[in-house]
Amino acid sequence: MATAQLDGIKVLGGGPFGGRDLELMITRDAIQDRVREMAAEISGRYAARGPIIIGILNGSFIFMADLVRALQIPFEVDFIKLSSYGSETSSSGTVRLLKDISADITGRDVIVVEDIIDTGLTINFLRRRLEEAGPTSVSFVTLLLKDDVAKLDFTIDHVGFKIPNRYVVGYGLDIDQQMRGLDAIYALKEQE
Ligand code: PRP
Repeated sequence: MATAQLDGIKVLGGGPFGGRDLELMITRDAIQDRVREMAAEISGRYAARGPIIIGILNGSFIFMADLVRALQIPFEVDFIKLSSYGSETSSSGTVRLLKDISADITGRDVIVVEDIIDTGLTINFLRRRLEEAGPTSVSFVTLLLKDDVAKLDFTIDHVGFKIPNRYVVGYGLDIDQQMRGLDAIYALKEQE
């Protein structure tokens, strides 16, 4: 796994994380290759089913955009906005619903798209909530999974990369709402 110093794109704006360096964890090319593979798997599985693909805002927006553009099947999109973190680098332990889906998912095939599953709190909350609406099926796609940390009582259908328990940014993931536009995944360098 490569490591890079990123002079000039250290955490922006100072604040509690200002001046921290980043380590390259997953390159842009590796992400793009894996997204295409995942899209092919999903296209095969959902051919002729017309799924509704629900992205969890904010973090999933870049992964979702790349994933759906690589699909070879008809689909609809919708979004839900949930928040499980405050402004710190660990889970607050609660999930807040900030924007609900608009679509009626009763009797539909649903695909949930997440950028990262960390503790599993967000995805467990969303699974319970969606199943109350009586969809035909719900499957889960995540770009990143912290499999040493996540507590899940169901299977994640499509996982892009399993990652260690590091705070990661880029490709939609933020720190204090910054760094989402980086085109690769970086870990905050641990302080010595
Ligand atoms: C992040 C991420 C996931 C969630 C994962 O979202 O996008 O939705 O945390 O953590 P969990 O498995 O411990 O629940 P966050 O609440 O930081 O909001 P954001 O997507 O707007 O960045």
